Amino acid sequence: MNGTLTNKINSRRTFAIISHPDAGKTTLTEKLLLFGGAIREAGTVKGRKNAKHATSDWMEIEKQRGISVTSSVLEFLYNGYHVNILDTPGHEDFSEDTYRTLTAADSATMLIDAAKGVEAQTKKLFKVCKLRGIPIFTFINKLDRQGRDPFELMEELENLLGIRSFPMGWPIGMGQSFKAVYDRVNKRLELYNPNNPKDIDIISVTGPDDPKIDEVVNDEGLVQQFREELELLDVAGDEYDLERINNGELTPIFFGSAISSFGVQTFLEHFLSLSPAPSPRDSSIGTIDPMEREQFSGFIFKVQANMNAKHRDRVAFLRITSGTFKRGMSVKHVRTNKPLKLAQPTQFLAQSRSIVDEAYAGDIIGLFDPGHFRIGDTLVEGESFEFSEMPHFSPEHFSAITVKEALKHKSYEKGLQQLTEEGAIQLFRTYNKYVEQQIVGVVGVLQFEVLEHRLKSEYHVDIQMSRQPFSFARWIDGDEKELSVFKEKQRNLVTDREDRIVALFENEFQMRTAQEKYPNLQFYENSFYK
Ligand code: G4P
Repeated sequence: MNGTLTNKINSRRTFAIISHPDAGKTTLTEKLLLFGGAIREAGTVKGRKNAKHATSDWMEIEKQRGISVTSSVLEFLYNGYHVNILDTPGHEDFSEDTYRTLTAADSATMLIDAAKGVEAQTKKLFKVCKLRGIPIFTFINKLDRQGRDPFELMEELENLLGIRSFPMGWPIGMGQSFKAVYDRVNKRLELYNPNNPKDIDIISVTGPDDPKIDEVVNDEGLVQQFREELELLDVAGDEYDLERINNGELTPIFFGSAISSFGVQTFLEHFLSLSPAPSPRDSSIGTIDPMEREQFSGFIFKVQANMNAKHRDRVAFLRITSGTFKRGMSVKHVRTNKPLKLAQPTQFLAQSRSIVDEAYAGDIIGLFDPGHFRIGDTLVEGESFEFSEMPHFSPEHFSAITVKEALKHKSYEKGLQQLTEEGAIQLFRTYNKYVEQQIVGVVGVLQFEVLEHRLKSEYHVDIQMSRQPFSFARWIDGDEKELSVFKEKQRNLVTDREDRIVALFENEFQMRTAQEKYPNLQFYENSFYK
């Protein structure tokens, strides 16, 4: 394989930041972009409350609500690395899109508020990362405020997420008494200056016992506590193990305060050296390794409409999995078996979209989409193959849906199909009922509003939705005999787009009862059957 291409691919880092709203993801993203020189001032990534609108606020509904519904991609250069950050919506009402965006990432950074610990949305996103087995890095944020004991947070990671951790740094003090973070790997101390937090002093030490620490921290009690804690970590903590980090079994923890840029650069530098370069992907002809295959290939992980209200266009987001992308190149669209010229690709900077001439494995590009693409589509140069299916995840909210005016049925069906292909909603049909009913499932309730809004504005269709009391969908598979009894007896069964049987449940109790009744069936949380 050509050396220049290998170098280009090796320098790529494509990751997502996963967190619960308010943990500080926008702030951290901004600081990372500032280090990379991609933006010049903070406050440009997301229009907070009354501030400027920024990159992610494309859709009308986002503007009305002042929140970010869709995920976008941000890229910057740092120390010879080409970094792609996959942004995920921070609002509670996030969508399945968020989950799917994680399929395009090679690693994830989990951002945690030191006072709040592991929160609901983080837990959900973590599960998806775990499913993929990608490395997960942890940044514990807001150390300038009083938070929870770091040991307690490590315990929570283990108990709630099932992941062991290795603190790369360790804080000395917190909140009012926050003094520094000790870098266990580089043996240096990053000093926090509350009066001028941006002025960060880093000093090298020989280890935690270095008297220089007593001198600069100047708080006997805190230093003693720090030494005891570090000893405990060395004796009872997990060992640093890159293989376990790579397999997603051990998460390196970093401590900092994103708002004052504290710990961000240390995190970034460690992250870039530890996180993986673009990784191989499974396909119908086996593993596609970007380090072995020179020809271009990629898959669509997200389709987004109306990014530019003036042009009403759709953009399909493509993750390049091997080779080089060149503007105007011809590729094969595998699902339709047709050649396709990729003429107007865009890449995403913090402020605007720009036309891209060349991109490499690991990069994300946006393709103008007049309706060619579906989520999961593979594009290749040379031999034909398809990447593994994109999973669907259990929706948590359900509505029966009908069109108000029967005459508009055609547009309605077209709109629904379109939105299903984009992955904004999941469409089910009732199974075993005399009157077939369409049921829409979404991960966040805001998607119902998006659905209604888009069907009206793009397809001129009014719909009627009636909320259903379900909270869980499970894809069912297993023993054939038991499955046929299940299909006959179980209530609230639906089929998905691929005609797979899906059971809907109102609560965990109902679900457990069914699982006990049918012990030879599997109840999968996603269509991946994992
Ligand atoms: P999100 O994207 O994860 O939702 O979080 P965002 O960055 O918007 O941060 C949420 C709030 O937490 C913001 O305050 C932000 O300033 C604050 N924050 C982020 N990092 C830190 C930190 O390291 N320390 C402290 N003390 N606060 C932090 P806000 O009042 O909601 O918004 P704003 O008025 O500051 O914009």
